[in-house]
Amino acid sequence: MKTIQSVDEMQALVNGVRANGKRIALVPTMGCLHEGHCSLIRMAKAKAEFLVVSLFVNPTQFAPNEDFDCYPRQLQDDLLQCESLGVDAVFNPSVEELYPRGYSTYVTEEVVSAGLCGVSRPAHFRGVTTVCLKLFNIVQPQLAIFGQKDAQQAAVLKKMVRDLNLQLEMEIAPTLRDADGLAMSSRNKHLSASQRGDALAINRALGIGKTMVEQGVRNVDRVVAEITHHLAQHRRVRVIYVQIVDRDTMEPAREIVPGRHLVAIAAWVDEVRLIDNILL
Ligand code: PAF
Repeated sequence: MKTIQSVDEMQALVNGVRANGKRIALVPTMGCLHEGHCSLIRMAKAKAEFLVVSLFVNPTQFAPNEDFDCYPRQLQDDLLQCESLGVDAVFNPSVEELYPRGYSTYVTEEVVSAGLCGVSRPAHFRGVTTVCLKLFNIVQPQLAIFGQKDAQQAAVLKKMVRDLNLQLEMEIAPTLRDADGLAMSSRNKHLSASQRGDALAINRALGIGKTMVEQGVRNVDRVVAEITHHLAQHRRVRVIYVQIVDRDTMEPAREIVPGRHLVAIAAWVDEVRLIDNILL
């Protein structure tokens, strides 16, 4: 497995791979790999002949008051994990390599990114689309895989790929959960045992919503109220949003259509910000 920090080196490598007619897959990550990432990497491995994983904690998607500095990092473990999963190349550039002094170009998707997390994290998706477009340009993959846990991110990136005519297939892999139901996330590392106990309310609340819809409820306000009520029972949980939205456009639902909508939750569990969603 190659470990590459330089853009030039990465581009030279993939140019060679493409010249040999091999299909390249990219799994972009911010490192601190967990089983959720591993499932994306395995999926990519099965669908391409050359697999690149990027490990880059992207500063442009964090606001100045957010957790960029304390975002968990564990490069050595990540490299071992990638090696064991048969990754061909890891791209882990420095911040200066991707954003050299004087860097001034950003990509903004303006509709899908506007609601949900776009409200409380206004510059977040601009950072995500910018870094992903850069990674797509550097690695030139035919396939990129993202996780459904970040449903809005996936929808925003799909829209960018469509709007900018990128020749790239995007796959969205299902959310992986720990045995207790908590959606896997690098930020779970910051939860104490008792905070984790409260964080489980998020998954349970999504389950309550899903059951209501399975029982025939189509009224958005009723489902949102029930979910919000469940979350409110937990002292450490502060809801940022509970919304039922279209899974592609992220537009708020007027009436629930199973197969079309999802419930998305963002909440603070003390100082840890978690998101999760369930397809209806
Ligand atoms: O989901 C993530 O880990 C990040 O937002 C991504 C897609 C790697 C871009 O930095």
